[in-house]
Amino acid sequence: MHPAPAHTPLPDIAVLGLGGTIAGTATGDPTLPGYTAGVLGVDDLLQRIPSLARLARLHTEQVANIDSKDMGFALWTRLAARVAHWLEQPHIRGCVITHGTDTLEETAYLLQLVHRSPKPVVLTAAMRPATALDADGPQNLLDAVRVAVQAPDIGVVCVMHGRVHAARDVTKASTHRVDAFSSGERGPLGEIDGTGLRLWRQPVAEAGAPFALPSAEAWPRVEVVRNQAGADGAVVRCLLDCAGLQPPLRGLVVAGTGGGTVHDDLATALEQARSMGVRVEVASRVGPVHGGAYDGLNVDKLRVRLILELARA
Ligand code: SIN
Repeated sequence: MHPAPAHTPLPDIAVLGLGGTIAGTATGDPTLPGYTAGVLGVDDLLQRIPSLARLARLHTEQVANIDSKDMGFALWTRLAARVAHWLEQPHIRGCVITHGTDTLEETAYLLQLVHRSPKPVVLTAAMRPATALDADGPQNLLDAVRVAVQAPDIGVVCVMHGRVHAARDVTKASTHRVDAFSSGERGPLGEIDGTGLRLWRQPVAEAGAPFALPSAEAWPRVEVVRNQAGADGAVVRCLLDCAGLQPPLRGLVVAGTGGGTVHDDLATALEQARSMGVRVEVASRVGPVHGGAYDGLNVDKLRVRLILELARA
């Protein structure tokens, strides 16, 4: 724990470390590969931001230290349990999670769907490793703690580059810019800077939430297939024919073209999947499709939601 000055009644915030570039280090040697994600511990990251001690009493936990491309269901289960554990404690005002940028949007939406507490959960990340001259992690982490302190009922959000994004909307939209995250056509919920937090809108409520997390061995298999030139449905038929697939196929999310259109040949294979009891839902490879039951969800968020819906069924 990082002590605050004794006379100041500061809010208690839990900071959970997951890894990512925000905890990454670079060699500085141009002949070696660029950097390694998930090296430094969450306490190391916080020590680089002395002004945090004036903002909150921080309680830290290193839940994992991974490159978030390797995120999996077991770690999601553990993370959700640790978030719930911290938020159940009356003195904890909110939770901040340091995460890799690559799958942050999926983790954020999963937590939004299973979140049972009114307290805030703020995910943050960085595009530059902690050892870079222009590291963006410290400012993002400072901003994330400030949002957790100042927005008591905001739900699950992502704070990056001075913007506050809803878990439902946020997506990584650049492979290299520090301003890598976007909330698409809906835009961010608000912004945070040296003068404070400004919220322009509230996040939309999630129909059917909160969902229960599947038990460790019962995460239903939902795969993503893509519509594209020459999409003939062979991938779908292979999945259907794969007798030994464990866990078996329960759902398919289609990254459709345009507003969610599908090649006739792929559509035939998807019909076969439906007739075999596989749930099929269509999003768009272009971005969120507005309207309908899954209004505005991108392909990867729709997959997260379908997994939880199938686990509930
Ligand atoms: C990761 O997602 O863990 C690596 C990439 C990043 O954090 O930017």
